[in-house]
Amino acid sequence: AIERTLSIIKPDAVGGNHIGAIYDRFEQAGLRIVGAKMLQLDDEKAGGFYAEHAERPFYNDLKSFMTSGPVLVSVLEGEDAIAKHRDIMGATNPKEAAEGTIRADFANSIDENAVHGSDSAQSAAREISYFFNEDEVCPRTR
Ligand code: CMP
Repeated sequence: AIERTLSIIKPDAVGGNHIGAIYDRFEQAGLRIVGAKMLQLDDEKAGGFYAEHAERPFYNDLKSFMTSGPVLVSVLEGEDAIAKHRDIMGATNPKEAAEGTIRADFANSIDENAVHGSDSAQSAAREISYFFNEDEVCPRTR
């Protein structure tokens, strides 16, 4: 089915000038960028996004990293977009990410791992609405 997923290019990959290379991976995989914006997150906005991790030991480091520079948040649309995005992203820990995945090629550690992607239809719906108003997502007409 045609799905939407929320993608974040994280501060390490934005700082490394890899936005275009990562967008190319999405487009080569047949995913369409139907919403996009660059944001400088603050502690509250990053913390709310990762609220499910609030009790994890890495939560404070995660918020510090995610506020260390701008991020590029995007809505990607396509056939099986959620699973497809996760496949091309690779495992959370880049040391375990399959060859040719975004995290294998652009990430240095589990903490600074270049990209985020929604892990289920439920989280995709929450994460998209966390960053985008309805009129900021633009379905393709051609
Ligand atoms: P992400 O998919 O954005 O979701 C939460 C992030 O927390 C994750 O990517 C990692 O970058 C970071 N993180 C740090 N340590 C861990 C861990 N032990 N397990 C899962 N995520 C972690």
